[in-house]
Amino acid sequence: TKPNISVVGSINMDLVKEVSNFPNKGETVLGKNFFTSFGGKGANQAIASSRLGAEVTMFGCVGDDDYGKKLISNLQRNGVNTENVTSVANMTSGIASITLSEEDNSIIVIPGANNKVTPEYIFDREAEIIKSDLILASIEIPLETVVCVSEMAKKYHIPFVLNPAPATQLPAKLIQNSTLLTPNEHEFFVVLGSNDQKSIYEERINTYNGAIIITRGSKSAVMKKEKGELKYLPSYKVRVVDTTGAGDAFNGAIAYMLAKGEDLEDAAKFAMAVSALAVTKLGAQTGLPTIEEYDNFMQSNNILR
Ligand code: RIB
Ligand code: NA
Repeated sequence: TKPNISVVGSINMDLVKEVSNFPNKGETVLGKNFFTSFGGKGANQAIASSRLGAEVTMFGCVGDDDYGKKLISNLQRNGVNTENVTSVANMTSGIASITLSEEDNSIIVIPGANNKVTPEYIFDREAEIIKSDLILASIEIPLETVVCVSEMAKKYHIPFVLNPAPATQLPAKLIQNSTLLTPNEHEFFVVLGSNDQKSIYEERINTYNGAIIITRGSKSAVMKKEKGELKYLPSYKVRVVDTTGAGDAFNGAIAYMLAKGEDLEDAAKFAMAVSALAVTKLGAQTGLPTIEEYDNFMQSNNILR
């Protein structure tokens, strides 16, 4: 049977500008190309799990604008259950203004309707949310809402995976309620401590008792189970086209595996491959693989770093 996942998070339209160089403050530059594509950490994660074969229900809000309709039909096209996605009157859908250069990207998110994913919204849908084998959340929605989801997961003993992105300090109780934290390197330092950026994971990571995986782009991911040693999981060498949403691919994939009851390390290795595939295509969702595409990749002459 298919694993069942509830995803709580943002739904955005990504407005992407490709440039050769970022403008300085006050400067105007000509860019190369513009396109819109589907995004939002929550929606990206939901679609990542769904394409792999999970039964996914999305919890989130869009605006009552044109983007809102498109965002919902995109989720549906990808097999995600949208019965709980609310279209909020007189609100704009979340948008992410993304600037892509060869080396880097920068993103401004205007949450719009994502701010309407409130604790009340969650309480009203308790029965639907707790139907799943696992709950996956990220924080482009109000933090108090995420806390509330984590309490619900705890109350019903449902595994709760928290992708603490974008980086923000978290209430202790949210961290405690999480079965697994999946920050990237920057988020790790913001979430678990001081501003001093010394990358000695061994020291910092031991201040935390739960399971954690730190994703680090093209570098290996760092994993620690609830009790145990640090493990470094190598990344795959691929042709990188667009890293937007790489973390979301990782989270959707690990959620899929954990919901199936797989072990954390196997789940993480699987997610490393899925996120590697995701960055080979332009746009946050374009490269998210099906399970067949994952299998093909594993059977090809793929290279670990
Ligand atoms: O994680 C990538 C996502 O972050 C993009 O799709 C964009 O919408 C922003 O929310
Ligand atoms: Na991509």
